[in-house]
Amino acid sequence: MSSPAPSPDSRATFRPDVFKGKVLFCTGGRSGICYSIVETMMSHGVDAIIVGRDAKGLEESADRLAKKSGQKCIPASADVRDPDQVKKAVDLAQKTFGRIDFVICGAAGNFLAPISSLSERAFRTVVEIDLLGTYHTIKATLPLVRASKGAYVHISATLHYRGLPYQAHVSAAKAGVDALSGVLAVEEGPRGVRSNVIAPGPIGGTVGMDKLTPKGWKPEGDVPLGRMGETLDIANAAVFLFSPAAAWITGTVTVVDGGEHHIRQMS
Ligand code: HXC
Repeated sequence: MSSPAPSPDSRATFRPDVFKGKVLFCTGGRSGICYSIVETMMSHGVDAIIVGRDAKGLEESADRLAKKSGQKCIPASADVRDPDQVKKAVDLAQKTFGRIDFVICGAAGNFLAPISSLSERAFRTVVEIDLLGTYHTIKATLPLVRASKGAYVHISATLHYRGLPYQAHVSAAKAGVDALSGVLAVEEGPRGVRSNVIAPGPIGGTVGMDKLTPKGWKPEGDVPLGRMGETLDIANAAVFLFSPAAAWITGTVTVVDGGEHHIRQMS
């Protein structure tokens, strides 16, 4: 069998200035998958605002992103569970950049727990971060995204395609995110706003992977494309979905998992 192909640098496929003059608003952009999406989008000329709860971590990430790309990146400390805090972050984006073109709803929380011992507060916490947080972000950004005829990408998952043990809270939340995106696509399509979902599979070096995958898990045999995902695999999909090449794509869920969800074993 030949060795699995790595994801290429997106600039081998898309113009380095394809997002020049555009502004990206990203929740969960401090680290992991969303950090990589922001980094890659900035390498194509976008300016960004990254939103999350860890003010110091956000500041460090924003500095690093700006230095690497030469674009502008600002941090906004907000808990997506609080609509007023999200609105303040949007106001900061408007004051700084005067516009928002692209939104990534990526803030998420997770842990493994069986329904039998999952407290109501634990279930509510994850639904409030993942689903309600997405709703708050959409509500707060929509006027600006309508004005720019922009686009949303929501970060979901594949775990709710089957009954995955110990993931009731996240499965319920992510199924809701998929549904919310579809409704947004239909309602806002006539105004030129697009909304799509990316559903990542197992992505190496992320908090989700560390928390959810058994130690020593090997992708061979479980992933048809033969390797673990990288954050760049998700970033490349986001670049495509935000780019003019996806102008007639809305209301979709793009699964980026090397084919893993088709053969996932229940264990
Ligand atoms: C059972 C737990 C728990 C655990 C928290 N809780 N961790 N229950 N098992 N391991 C319960 C608490 O006991 C409490 O309920 C309630 O959840 C709220 O917990 P807090 O710690 O007070 O909440 P908070 O500080 O807001 O923390 C949120 C969090 C936390 C989600 C619970 O884990 C977090 O912020 N994590 C960092 C982000 C993260 O996990 N990222 C990974 C995303 S991966 P009680 O009843 O006791 O008061 C991802 C990928 C999905 O989303 C797809 C993968 C393929």
